[in-house]
Order: sequence, then structure tokens, then C-alpha cells
Amino acid sequence: MPATKVVVNIPDEVPYDVRIGQNIVGRLGQDLRKLERFAALEQLLVITDDNVAPLYLASVKEALSGAGFKVSDLSVHAGEEAKSLDVAKEIYEAMAMLKLGRDCAVVALGGGVVGDLAGFVGSTYMRGVEVVQVPTTLLAMVDSSVGGKTGVNLHAGKNLVGTFNQPAYVCADTTTLLTLDEREWACGCAEIAKSAVIDSDDFFFWLTDAAQALASRDMAATEEAIARSVVFKADVVAQDKTESCGIRECLNYGHTLGHALEKLAGYGTYSHGACVAEGMRFAARLGQRLVDTPQELVDAQDALLDALGLPRLACSFEPEAILEAMKRDKKARHGQVRFVLPRDVGDWVLMDVDDEVILEQLQDW
Ligand SMILES: NC(=O)c1ccc[n+]([C@@H]2O[C@H](COP(=O)([O-])OP(=O)(O)OC[C@H]3O[C@@H](n4cnc5c(N)ncnc54)[C@H](O)[C@@H]3O)[C@@H](O)[C@H]2O)c1
Repeated sequence: MPATKVVVNIPDEVPYDVRIGQNIVGRLGQDLRKLERFAALEQLLVITDDNVAPLYLASVKEALSGAGFKVSDLSVHAGEEAKSLDVAKEIYEAMAMLKLGRDCAVVALGGGVVGDLAGFVGSTYMRGVEVVQVPTTLLAMVDSSVGGKTGVNLHAGKNLVGTFNQPAYVCADTTTLLTLDEREWACGCAEIAKSAVIDSDDFFFWLTDAAQALASRDMAATEEAIARSVVFKADVVAQDKTESCGIRECLNYGHTLGHALEKLAGYGTYSHGACVAEGMRFAARLGQRLVDTPQELVDAQDALLDALGLPRLACSFEPEAILEAMKRDKKARHGQVRFVLPRDVGDWVLMDVDDEVILEQLQDW
């Protein structure tokens, strides 16, 4: 299957390519050399984690050094804890020890954790060097590697420190997905479903037809799902790069309840994807109450999530506790909880919802 190319064109940014295909990491070095910004660049630092390093670091380094780059690497412990200022500082120090200057670039090889961390380090080391994203999870391919949000966590909350900094290039080699476990696969599927509902009838009905194939990891369906999600996300980011005019917030569909459930259950108990899927089901029903969301959408979305291996969660938290967790989320404004509500497929609205309404809906839930 030939590789697909999506060009991400964001106002006031250098356009960049997202390449999607099998075994394309082998030509990453040559592809980077074709970019003006990389033509004379000498040093690269590959940042990865200790799950991904034994699987893909050697081939990535070989591809890069084959194109004449001097390549160093650094591996962090896998997991969300790596997204911290302490780990970022260790990487800055290591970069300084390696005498990396402003003319180096950082290559993020891994899932969204490595992508966010390496993106943050790259955008701040010496006031910013080039960043290349090589996502290796489905979630990172369809969502986090594109759009330029980088960040680390504080004890007070997730992603509280970060930058907006677009990568120079994204290489989504779908062969790397063969080693991904079921739980991580489902996380990517939830973000794809989210994108489809928010985007359009075309994406939604395509995904409905392709859901079984995607759930069983058919390569053609996977690559098309990634390409469609990237096109969707690039379009959203082009309209609202820094999440300042309420458009980029559509990417939070399903996340208002999703984040609250993740937090209440304790991070890691349920996957992020399972919580987002639950949040989408809830938001669509809340939409029925508030914005006349049609029953057909609720049913079709339920069926889609089921087919993607994202069944209802068997959790029962007190409505008050869920509401409280939603209010502590950094996306809540002035104590008001915000939802992305689908009025229909491809038609959404951002709404501050009163506590009483949320509590009533949670009781029904
Ligand atoms: N920047 C954004 O726009 C954005 C968007 C969504 C999510 N995020 C962030 O992304 C992070 C979640 O990303 P994630 O779901 O990719 O998690 P992750 O990076 O923790 O990866 C999940 C697990 O899979 C392992 N892994 C990665 N690739 C693998 C492969 N090919 N084979 C086997 N194992 C592999 C990792 O080592 C890790 O253990 C969160 O921190 C979230 O905040 C950022």
C-alpha cells in the first residue's frame, strides 16, 4: 500500500507533512533531508521510552544516520509520570552535555506521553529547536502528534505547563502498531470515533462501515482512519491554533465526563479511551435534553462504540462526586462545567451546563 501524505497548513506556521504508511520509518532520514530546515542540520536527539526503545529505536537511528545525521538518544520510563518538569530538566541537562545547539532537532519516538514531553523540551531548549514526531500508538497517530500542543503535568493537574509548537514533520509508520496492546488500540479508536462524530456524515458513516475492520486492525482501514482523523484535526487547528476562539474545544467531546471518571477511578483503572467513550455516550444523552440531539445519533454512536470494542463502563460513582471532579478539571470555567454537545453528526455546540441539570442527567445515567 503506498504511503498517504496529509499536509497540515496552519495560518502563520510553516506547513508540514504527516506521512502515514507501512515501513516508512526506513526513509525518515531522507524525507527530513528534503526539508529546507533540515538540509544542513547535523545533530538529532531521539527521545523515546523504555517500552518503545527495544522495539524501534535501532531502526529509527539507522534511518537517520543513513542520511548523514549525527544521532543521540535518550529513553525515559514509560508512563504518564515521564511528563514532568523533573524529567524535562534531566533531558535539558543531557542535551547541554551533548553540546546540542540551536541547530539540532528533537525526534519524539513513542506515544502521546513521549510526544508531549519531547515536544515541550524541543520547543523550550535554547528557546526552541525543530521537533519531529514519530508516533507509535494509534492515539498519537490520530491525535497528539498533530496540532502542536506540548506539555508536562504538575501535581495540581495534567498538562498545566506547555507550549503551542507545531512539529516540522510527522512520520506515522503503521507497522509499529503491530506491537500495541488491546487497551492502547481501543484508546486510539475512541479518539477516532470522537473525530468522526464531530466532523461529518462522511467520516461517521465511513467509520460505521469500517468499525469491525478497524477493531480487528485491518491495515487499510487503520490507515484511512488515521488519515481522516489527521485531516479533521488539522482543519480544526487551522481555525483555532491556540484554543482561543472555542473551535479547538470540539476535540474535547466526551472528555468532560471522561476525565472525571479517569480521575475518580484512579488513573490507569480504566483506559483513557474507555472513559472518553463513556463520556461521548453521556454527552449525546445530555444533548437530547438540551439541544434536541436525535435519538438516531445516540443509537448509532452507541453501536459504533460497541463495534470498536468500547463497551459501557461498569462504574458507579456518586453524581455529586462526578460533578465535583468535573469542576476541578482545568477546562471548567469559573466553576461552570462545559460540554461539547452533538446537535447532530458534524454539528456541535459548546455549552456551560448548570449543576442541577448535570446532576439530574447523572442520576438517570
Ligand atoms: N498533545 C495533544 O494534542 C494530545 C492529545 C491527546 C492526548 N495527549 C496526551 O497523550 C498521552 C497519552 O498518549 P498515549 O495514549 O499514546 O500513551 P503513552 O504514550 O503512555 O503510550 C501508551 C503505552 O504504549 C507503549 N507503546 C507506545 N508505542 C508502542 C508500540 N508501538 N508498541 C508497544 N507499546 C507501545 C508506551 O510505552 C506506553 O506504555 C497523554 O499524556 C495525553 O495527555 C496529547
